[in-house]
Amino acid sequence: MALTAARAFIFLVLLAIRACQATSRTLHEASMSERHEKWMAYYGRAYKNNAEKEMRLKLFKQNVDFIESFNSAGNRPYKLRINEFADQTNEEFRASRNGYKRSSYSRPSAMTPFRYENMTGVPARVDWRQYGAVTPVKDQGECGCCWAFSAVAAIEGITQIQKKKLVSLSEQELVDCDTSGEDLGCEGGLMDNAFKFIIHNKGLTTEDKYPYKGSDGNCSKSETASSAAKITGYEDVTANSEKALKMAVANQPVSVAIDAGGYPFQFYSKGVFTGDCGKDLDHGVTAVGYGKSDGKKYWLVKNSWGTSWGEDGYIRMERDVDAKEGLCGIAMESSFPTA
Ligand SMILES: *[C@@H]1O[C@H](CO)[C@@H](O)[C@H](O)[C@H]1NC(C)=O
Ligand SMILES: *[C@@H]1O[C@H](CO)[C@@H](O)[C@H](O)[C@H]1NC(C)=O
Repeated sequence: MALTAARAFIFLVLLAIRACQATSRTLHEASMSERHEKWMAYYGRAYKNNAEKEMRLKLFKQNVDFIESFNSAGNRPYKLRINEFADQTNEEFRASRNGYKRSSYSRPSAMTPFRYENMTGVPARVDWRQYGAVTPVKDQGECGCCWAFSAVAAIEGITQIQKKKLVSLSEQELVDCDTSGEDLGCEGGLMDNAFKFIIHNKGLTTEDKYPYKGSDGNCSKSETASSAAKITGYEDVTANSEKALKMAVANQPVSVAIDAGGYPFQFYSKGVFTGDCGKDLDHGVTAVGYGKSDGKKYWLVKNSWGTSWGEDGYIRMERDVDAKEGLCGIAMESSFPTA
């Protein structure tokens, strides 16, 4: 008798749970357009017409569902979140933000060999922000000039390390003026070519003097003439060696190319990113440190997608993975300026 009562009770509880799930599912659908409206207001998004809005709502819903099920699966050391890119497909997102032009032309070879290759006593952790060598996170907007942001962050770093003065430098000068080795402003480029241009140009001016516009423009010769930071050369880190990359980052912020494709990267929120990602390098960023947290080794990477993405604009990417190329190919084509 007691058993039957208990069974009936369990049955009722299960029924209640199921009813609850059904209700929340309907609420979920209904609230999705409300969430989209709120999201649009928060990020100041406007659409051309209702057809576009409907299409974007559909993408928003797909992305929110993906993010929520990813997070509730809870089997990764990192989380995703609904950010300002939540109404875009990954293809659109990649097309507008990335711009590391690896496939279209080959990487120029470095001017001198990798100077840190025999370094001993490499520290266990480094965070160049703590030494004041990293400017606040910037936002490239819908312009594929990640390569300029990556190169500039590395130059800001070495300049501060040597001169003890942190100055924000101009990406727009590179976008407008650097045509070396087929660098194409918002249509993509390479960090090594940017370094070459800056050597040739005898320096780079400040962000204040030549502010960022986020679109291709004509080169302003008068601003270009006033140099705020100079470099004498650049070096490529030994390819496909996270050990070599660690030595370089221990000494200064380093420009790295990564495969930033995939929805997990688009919606990365916090934690140590472990992929999935390939090795199809399409994005230039800057490694500004490395460390270990909760038993996971990571690279501390400064991105240029504003502070609402990731950990205040940064991502921690898993370090010392099985593949020699590193996670997302981070150890494949890294380089740094010398001064
Ligand atoms: C590193 O050590 C090797 C072997 O002693 C030497 O040939 C090489 O020149 C050294 N590299 C640098 C950058 O000093
Ligand atoms: C660049 O200069 C050309 C020729 O003077 C002009 O037609 C064009 O509008 C300028 N572009 C921008 C973005 O200012």
